[in-house]
Order: sequence, then structure tokens, then C-alpha cells
Amino acid sequence: MQEHIERIRADIAAGIEKVKDGTRQELFELKMKYLGKTGEISALSKGMRDVPAEQRPAMGKLVSEVRAWAEEQFDQTEALLKKKELEARYKSERIDVTMPARFAETGTLHPVNIVKKEIIECFEGMGFDIYEGPEIEKDYYNFQALNIPADHPARDMQDTFFITGEYLLRSQTSSGQIRVMENKKPPIKILSPGRVYRSDSDATHSPMFHQMEGLVVDKGITLCDLKGILDEFARRMFTKETKTRLRPSYFPFTEPSVEVDLSCHNCGGKGCRICKGTGWIEILGAGMVNRRVLENCGIDPDEYTGFAFGMGLERIAMIKYGINDMRYLFENDVRLLKQFKD
Ligand code: DAH
Repeated sequence: MQEHIERIRADIAAGIEKVKDGTRQELFELKMKYLGKTGEISALSKGMRDVPAEQRPAMGKLVSEVRAWAEEQFDQTEALLKKKELEARYKSERIDVTMPARFAETGTLHPVNIVKKEIIECFEGMGFDIYEGPEIEKDYYNFQALNIPADHPARDMQDTFFITGEYLLRSQTSSGQIRVMENKKPPIKILSPGRVYRSDSDATHSPMFHQMEGLVVDKGITLCDLKGILDEFARRMFTKETKTRLRPSYFPFTEPSVEVDLSCHNCGGKGCRICKGTGWIEILGAGMVNRRVLENCGIDPDEYTGFAFGMGLERIAMIKYGINDMRYLFENDVRLLKQFKD
């Protein structure tokens, strides 16, 4: 029996040596082979019955020694394998904190929205409130109240999408002027951004585009106030040196009407590709609110005067960022949009 015990000891030692490079499952199987219920060491204990009584204490001692030894061997190897497993895991899951981070791509504001935001900030700073009118508008607000009756030739300037005889997609944010003046007594100082629609499409026109309307009505407002406010706007939106120039024009809802040019922010007025050699860039229409328009809204034109202006946001964005085809602004090509990251 002693020999048998020695052989078991040797077998376990050899088995463990092998399993040291193996898995914990293999170690467990080996352990069961010796220490499991039907294992070889358990069999030794059972075999004690057949050992002559006088040898039993000595043999019993040997068996318990080999059991204790085997248990220790298995425990130690188990701990070793656990450690190895952890080390392997740490190695495979290792994070190199010195690696450059992978950034999540963030979106950007669309150039038209950037321009819109900047204009709003500029005018809010001068005390303007924001008013947003409806895109589906009545003929009355879009045309009639703005002194453009049904058969007026000025309607031709804006090829309008009619929905019914009475309703249309607004062709200008000027409709908002009427809605504001109908509901508020002067002093009025509003800015009205929004989408407008016209049946028009080429490199500088889109069937949907954005406008920004401005309206100031109070006692004693003159064209000089308009010029002063636009000068400030031009300096803030472009450069400190930017100047404005008013040219006579015609709009049914203003009298007198003007077309406003900015000195070219690119060449400073010398003439370049952007201003087509003229040194000036046309950016908006404006004028003193026509008496008839004030009357249509129940405001006494002998008591109050006002100015209004309207500009296309796409046009401002194109001028500001040197974009030469309006369609780029609607294609949403990320290569273009990415260039507007702060
Ligand atoms: N509504 C005009 C347009 O769409 C722009 C405009 C011109 C607006 C003169 C105004 C203005 O308020 O006074 O072309």
C-alpha cells in the first residue's frame, strides 16, 4: 500500500507539472481523479478496511498525509493558474492611455444658421425683438397690405406659389411687418427671420430660401436712422471698415426705397473678383415704410414714421464665406459643412 501511495504522489506531481500550462478545468479534472468521491485517494481511505489492524494507524497517517499534500498541491496550482489567467486578461484588455483619443464627430451649425444667429445677436444688441410669422400666408399679408394689390406689376418680381386663391407660401418675410403692426402700437423694433418661397431655381436662386426682415416704427424715424443701423450691422457682420451705400430703388411698401450696398469686405473697395470689380456688393432692400402700409395697419402716418429692410440669408452667407453657387448651401455635403466648425 505504501508503494501505491508513493505512485499516486508521483502521478499527481507529474500531472500537476503538465497542467501548470493548461486550464483550470484540466486541473479540476485531475483533482477529481484523486480527491473526488471515487478518486484514487478516496479509494485509499476506503481500502483501510482491508489493512491489518496493527498497520492501520501507520497507514492511516500516510493516507491523510498524502491527502493533505495533494490538497495543498491542487490549491497552490489553482492559485497559480488563476494568477496566469488574470495576467493574460490584463494583457489582452490593456488600455494604452497614451494613445490619441478617438473623437466622436460633432455636428456644426449650417452656414445659413450661423449667419442668422449673428444677425440676430447684432440686432438684439440694438434692442430689436424677434417675431416669426407663418410660412403659409394670406395674400393680404404677403401682398395687399404691403401696397401690392391683385393686379400690381410688382407681383411679377416674386413668382409665388399659390395654394388657393387666398393662401400662398409667403414670398417675403415682409408679411411679418403687417402682422406686427396690426397687433402692436409703436414704438416697434422687430427683426423677423424665416423661410420664404419662390418659383425660381438657378445658381443664385432657390425655391426655398431664408430672409431676415427688420422694421422700426416710432415718432421721428428717418432714413438717417436706417443708415446708422445698417452701418453698425455691416461693421459687426463683416469688418470694422465696411461702409454702406444707399441707391434709389423701388418697392411698393416703402417710399422712398433704397438698395443697400456694402463696400467689399474682400478688397476694401478697390475692386476684386467677389465684388465683380465694382468695390460694392448689394446686400439688401430697404426704405421708409410707405404711408399706405402704416394706414393699412391703423397707424397714423402723420404721427409715426418707420423704416424697413429685408435681406436674403443665403446671399449674406455666400458673400461672407465666398460661396459662389447657392445650391452648395442646400446639398448638405459634409465636406462643405465641416468647414464651419468653430
Ligand atoms: N421683401 C423684399 C424682397 O423680398 C425685400 C425688402 C425690400 C424688404 C425693402 C423690406 C424693404 O422690408 O423695405 O425682395
